[in-house]
Amino acid sequence: MTLIEKLRESAAFITSKTGPEKIDLAIVLGSGLGDLADSLEKSVIVDYHDIPHFPVSTVPGHKGRLVCGYLEGRRILCMQGRFHFYEGWSMQECVYPIQTFRVMGIEKLFLTNAAGCVNKDWNAGDLMLIDDHIKLDADSPLRGQNPDELGPRFFDMTEAWNPEAKDVAIAAAREAGITLRKGVYMYFGGPQFETPAEVRMARTLGADAAGMSTVPEAIAASQMGMKTLGISCLTNMAAGILAQKLSHEEVLETGEKVKGSFITLVRKIVKTWK
Ligand code: HPA
Repeated sequence: MTLIEKLRESAAFITSKTGPEKIDLAIVLGSGLGDLADSLEKSVIVDYHDIPHFPVSTVPGHKGRLVCGYLEGRRILCMQGRFHFYEGWSMQECVYPIQTFRVMGIEKLFLTNAAGCVNKDWNAGDLMLIDDHIKLDADSPLRGQNPDELGPRFFDMTEAWNPEAKDVAIAAAREAGITLRKGVYMYFGGPQFETPAEVRMARTLGADAAGMSTVPEAIAASQMGMKTLGISCLTNMAAGILAQKLSHEEVLETGEKVKGSFITLVRKIVKTWK
């Protein structure tokens, strides 16, 4: 079976559960934001396990299901639990859900994540709009055969992060009285956090944040012409900035503290990103 045939089967299965009504946008809920899916109205839940050809998440704290429903009057599809390269999935597998969403007809993608703060002028707990990204490792979610139905083999990434969506996010933050930084997210494969030298390198290259997700998804979305928006919760200062070691607990703790304003911002964006 070819990739496009699999995607069509996955898409048809999901649509058979959610119904054919247009979905305004898909949101990938990063660590800490998973609860947002529980506040959808008229929600329909589809477990990844049940979707033909879908990968299944293994990270503790990451649920593995789609939740489709209404938030702020918009019909959205949430991914509660994403697929990371460090779990053992290939890059291609990590973006399979995003490609499925496009085959379902979804045109907008909102990516959220937790990331380390590389910019020394900012603080743990800050929220950052992803203005652009850097990914230096050679692997790509689009390596290998390229089904024409998904998009061109070679494609432009100038507006991988949609300019209008950025404006919407900035306006939403301003209205909500939430400080939103704007910066460059640098992708690292993980699962180990970066070394202090890697963090210095990232800063020298122009990065403001470091993280282990999101970029493969944005690349796949860009190929398919989706409008993509990304917001990072900077849960910790990246390695070597402070005189303390990093821990996953710190990431979860800060995520929990910031959750309220992050959810407020996400809701406002969902409401106004037309
Ligand atoms: N580095 C990479 N990924 C992360 C970090 C970090 O410091 N914090 C949360 N996710």
